[in-house]
Amino acid sequence: MAEISHTLCRRRQNKDTVLMVDDNPANLQVLQTILEGQGCRLLTARDGTSALSVAAKEKPDVILLDIMMPEMDGFSVCRNLKADPATFEIPVIFLSAPERTEDKVRGLEMGAVDYITKPFQPEEVIARVTTHLTLRYLERQLRIANTELKELTDNLDKKVEERSQQLIRSRDSIIFVMAKMTEARDDDTGKHLERICRYVEILAMELAKTDASITDSWIRTVVKTAALHDIGKVGIPDGILLKKGQLTPEEREIMETHPAIGGDTLLELREEMGGGGPYLSRAIEITLGHHEKWDGSGYPFGIKGEAIALSARLVAVADVYDALVSHRIYKSGLSHEDACRLIQEGAGTHFDPRVVNAFEAREDDFRRIALSMCDDKTHQGECG
Ligand SMILES: [Fe+2]
Repeated sequence: MAEISHTLCRRRQNKDTVLMVDDNPANLQVLQTILEGQGCRLLTARDGTSALSVAAKEKPDVILLDIMMPEMDGFSVCRNLKADPATFEIPVIFLSAPERTEDKVRGLEMGAVDYITKPFQPEEVIARVTTHLTLRYLERQLRIANTELKELTDNLDKKVEERSQQLIRSRDSIIFVMAKMTEARDDDTGKHLERICRYVEILAMELAKTDASITDSWIRTVVKTAALHDIGKVGIPDGILLKKGQLTPEEREIMETHPAIGGDTLLELREEMGGGGPYLSRAIEITLGHHEKWDGSGYPFGIKGEAIALSARLVAVADVYDALVSHRIYKSGLSHEDACRLIQEGAGTHFDPRVVNAFEAREDDFRRIALSMCDDKTHQGECG
């Protein structure tokens, strides 16, 4: 500990300046004699006005300030020093007469850090001045360290943000690739996934107008993961998935396993990841629930009403609308009006009535997207 203090003193003394203020030249001479050899630059002032001028110009590291001076006493000098932003941090040590206890208290209350009693004892003067110079040095070092720490923290925040953005991009890419893997096997579905995500976004935004529980973050998550709704189709044999024509009852039964296949796959993924966050949770809801029906007549579980996740109820309407207006090799696309009528007829049986209301409110946007994102090689009912 002693070694550290010694090092600190040596490092500090190279730069330190001490201003001594006293109207009595003999006192200044004594102080100068005591502090010589301490490695400090020594400045003197014989009155308050000069003291303020030297302090402002030289920014000393400590000021030894006599209290009893003609014209401007030490208290006034101290008050002026503390009122000036350029000098308020400079430690002031008052030089006081031994019997003037009230002066010492008043000085400390005005912001002085210490006092030295006259007549001066060399050891006391050196000890008190050294202590406050060391404190001043440590304060400066602490300020530098804080600045460096803040810069490091700012850089760290920036790096964390960059890394987070990279992870978000990776996650979105993985979702997109997973969804595209399914789509790639079913060449007939064209831009189906992109349209579904847009339809779901419109429905969610419409519902959010009257439902405070639907947050922007929830909408973003649902819109991203809606593309995964048919991921379970990777488990459906080509002969059924790619069949040109109506499926037999047996084939339909196999086709209807795709929500469970997709849901189970994502549930396993969540277990492996020990969680997975909101994206995986929404993806599981949507994959498992997008063929459930409001009245309980859907699959795979036959659950009904609000037991079906809202995210899946949104995808159900979006998915059916897209299928209705799309032309496939085995069927022609319906007009937008016919598709709207069928969606409306399904309110309360196939679909959540609240979601159908949102669809009705925004059906023009559905038509616009159906037209603007029309597949080239297939033909929407609206396009053809
Ligand atoms: Fe599906």
